[in-house]
Amino acid sequence: MIPLAVPNLDGNEARYLEECVTSTFVSTVGPFVDTFEFLVAKASGSLRAVATQSGTAGLHLALTAMGVGRDDLVILPSFTFIASANAISHCGATPWLFDVTPESWNLGPTSLAGRLEKETRREKESLIHVPTGRRVAAVMPVHTLGLPADMDRIVEIARSYGLPVITDAAAALGATDKGRPVGHLGADLNVFSFNGNKTVTAGGGGAVTGDDAALMDFVRHLSTTARSGADYHHDHIGFNYRMTNLQAAVGCAQMERIDELVDAKRRIRRRYDQHLGDLSGVGIFPEVPGVESACWLSGIIINAELQTTVSELRDKLRAAEIDTRPFWKPVHMQPPYADAPFANMDVSESLWPNVLTLPCSTGLNESDQDSVIAAVRKALS
Ligand SMILES: Cc1ncc(COP(=O)(O)O)c(C=O)c1O
Repeated sequence: MIPLAVPNLDGNEARYLEECVTSTFVSTVGPFVDTFEFLVAKASGSLRAVATQSGTAGLHLALTAMGVGRDDLVILPSFTFIASANAISHCGATPWLFDVTPESWNLGPTSLAGRLEKETRREKESLIHVPTGRRVAAVMPVHTLGLPADMDRIVEIARSYGLPVITDAAAALGATDKGRPVGHLGADLNVFSFNGNKTVTAGGGGAVTGDDAALMDFVRHLSTTARSGADYHHDHIGFNYRMTNLQAAVGCAQMERIDELVDAKRRIRRRYDQHLGDLSGVGIFPEVPGVESACWLSGIIINAELQTTVSELRDKLRAAEIDTRPFWKPVHMQPPYADAPFANMDVSESLWPNVLTLPCSTGLNESDQDSVIAAVRKALS
């Protein structure tokens, strides 16, 4: 079977793990954690990074540090992995769900500005969502598939309403917008995932990055039970969200190869686009001029004229020993979010049943990718 996306552990991973064991530094304190944070901050373009146990933990931490709390609303695109919404719920808040643009599959500045203008009013220091009477506490764009959202305009709109911006950059490490790295696009905090299926993995893990020293110190403080001093005194309700030295050992070995790994993802994407994008009724994953995606996953979008479904196509490809997946079902269609406020979702609803992700491990060789391309062409012929 050609797998969808498996980690590429051909570097120093085993050696660094052995160092953890021989040194006995296996918990959340250790040299690999410090190095990993340094490497992630550098690659993201942010000044600082705090490593966490997962991307979801990082999102929960970032939202909490920005003051998101019970009964608040956080603006979120509906076309995302459910973890983005869950992190908001873990704060006691609810996502206010927006559709994405067809050009980027990301939150669009025009709908953001339009709905803020129509559906909110200011009340003292707060911004209130009129239909629910809830405070709007933050905007959380997601860089879908590693393609950065239009942060220049989103941040400008959010600032004009006094809203902080936290990006879910789970799969976007390595991406740039007009040459600027993804952690340097104006958000207060950015959150990355190093889950096993990400381009750079720590087995599991995440990181919060940002430039504001006091805010990042607070993120770090909250991540380690908010303990102040050597005695058991805790000044906030904190978390036990720090990454372990074991995870960071794998993460460091991967970060040493980040350019090579991201380049491999981009090369794979380009080859699928070139060799499948010409098929009638087939669309390719979004690209935005001036923005360089980290190309986390690759695949195609099938159009109604093909008279086949993603599920039928998957069956044919499975028979050819090729692993594929559908893509995110939007959050507003998920039972736990049935009550979350949302409006028109035409783009998200038309996209999700038609997206098929194809094998794109960074170790995928050209011959296996050619087999995938040939099998997709045959299945669609
Ligand atoms: C967009 C998005 N947000 C959040 C997450 C959660 O990250 P983690 O699995 O590290 O908790 C993921 C992980 O796949 C993701 O794709």
